[in-house]
Amino acid sequence: MSYEGELTKISLAVDLAGLKLRSPIMNASGVLGISIPLLKRVYNSGTGAVITKSIGPLSRPGHPNPTMVHVEGGVLNSMGLPNPGVDYFSIEVKELSDAGVPVIASFFASTIDEFTDSSIKLERAGARALELNLSCPNVSGESGMCATDPYTTEKVTAAVKSVTKLPLFVKLSPNVTDIIPIAKAAEFGGADAITVTNTLKGMAIDIDFKKPILSNVTGGLSGPALKPVALRYVWEIYEAVKIPIIGCGGINNWRDAVEYLLAGSTALEVGTAIMTHGFEIFNEINEGISQYMVENKFNDLKEMIGLAHKS
Ligand code: SIN
Repeated sequence: MSYEGELTKISLAVDLAGLKLRSPIMNASGVLGISIPLLKRVYNSGTGAVITKSIGPLSRPGHPNPTMVHVEGGVLNSMGLPNPGVDYFSIEVKELSDAGVPVIASFFASTIDEFTDSSIKLERAGARALELNLSCPNVSGESGMCATDPYTTEKVTAAVKSVTKLPLFVKLSPNVTDIIPIAKAAEFGGADAITVTNTLKGMAIDIDFKKPILSNVTGGLSGPALKPVALRYVWEIYEAVKIPIIGCGGINNWRDAVEYLLAGSTALEVGTAIMTHGFEIFNEINEGISQYMVENKFNDLKEMIGLAHKS
């Protein structure tokens, strides 16, 4: 199925660091696991590309259950980066890519060699861009949670950039005191865009059992409660770096998407809203942005990006 014909009012095409997207909307990594049929459905529901679950160098079971709990304003997850490993998953990336779906491969690793090795394998498999997940809040430093440190962020970004021709996006963490030095480090390391942000670390306690609900005690908060936090980071990073920003965090409808565009995002990732609204969320957001553009006399999405900084 081609989505192009359904965009009746205005084109939502956007150039994200050389990657041409028919819509700025993508799924956020992780929400749909690694299911290839589901990722195909995501694309057929109107996204510009699909983003895979984060893939590591070797298969990992992740944390034991419970790994997810609904809280007021969103969801806490502590999956622990479960994945089948890059060698197996490269076959799936190839299948998706051969089916004409533009794939952005999200990945993590523990050492520079693992990071570079995985990026080479994912590029060979047909990924159209890479998203470096340096920011999973549910694992310790040895699994790549290094977006709290500018030096490591720059080092890993530069190493991956040196072995790939693909656009490289670096996904940052909101769990920091000052995100700006880390965003600048990613840019200095050669990132082509920055994804802002991963989830916010939190927890929930079962008052009957009198213990934390998640097996890992803490998890990452996503959903509407994250939106003001991530939106502020997009705003601040837009003023600090020159590379494009991919806004991610609590986008629940087209109005949220427009806010992220006006704050400075070139593209957007939708995660938790897929659980609450289903796949129709992508089409709804596309239609809503398109209608907003017509009503506000925008001819090109570019005219909206960062516009709130100019008023
Ligand atoms: C997880 O697998 O724990 C979530 C992935 C992430 O937040 O990066």
